[in-house]
Amino acid sequence: MRAALLIVLGLAIGIIGTVFAMRALSERNPVPQALMVTMSFHRHQLQQAVKGQHCDAAANLDQLQHMQMIAADIPAVFRDAPQPFNDLATRLRTELKTAAQSAPVDCPALTAALKPVDQVCQQCHQQYR
Ligand code: HEC
Repeated sequence: MRAALLIVLGLAIGIIGTVFAMRALSERNPVPQALMVTMSFHRHQLQQAVKGQHCDAAANLDQLQHMQMIAADIPAVFRDAPQPFNDLATRLRTELKTAAQSAPVDCPALTAALKPVDQVCQQCHQQYR
């Protein structure tokens, strides 16, 4: 009788432990995704500006600088990423800096400045997303 109770107790503890372990495994770090969502928010703002033909130089610069700062956070947020991944993050930062320095004053200039930026987003997503 006592042995049977111990077996039942052991099973119950085992099941509870498994549930906790599985929950811990499925709880992933939300920060990497949050970073990308914020990045894409700023990219979307620029897209909306082009779409509405409302490309203001100061607003463009503001968005590009935000993206540049977010890009600088990539290596710290995506920890333990391989070197080629971090190289792409650096390239994104460089392209954003170039885009910001070109100070796009109108929509065609902004569209042209964003092209190399979008290419880096795409390249990294193809390989690592
Ligand atoms: C160095 C690599 C890298 C670069 C560069 C990069 N991304 Fe990402 N991106 C990722 C990875 C990895 C994920 C998957 C993240 C996750 O789900 O945890 C991702 C996911 C995303 C997502 C999906 C987020 C979601 O809701 O799950 C969006 C949107 C996104 N990136 C936008 C961008 C934009 C816009 C750029 C360029 C301005 C960019 N990314 C540049 C690596 C990169």
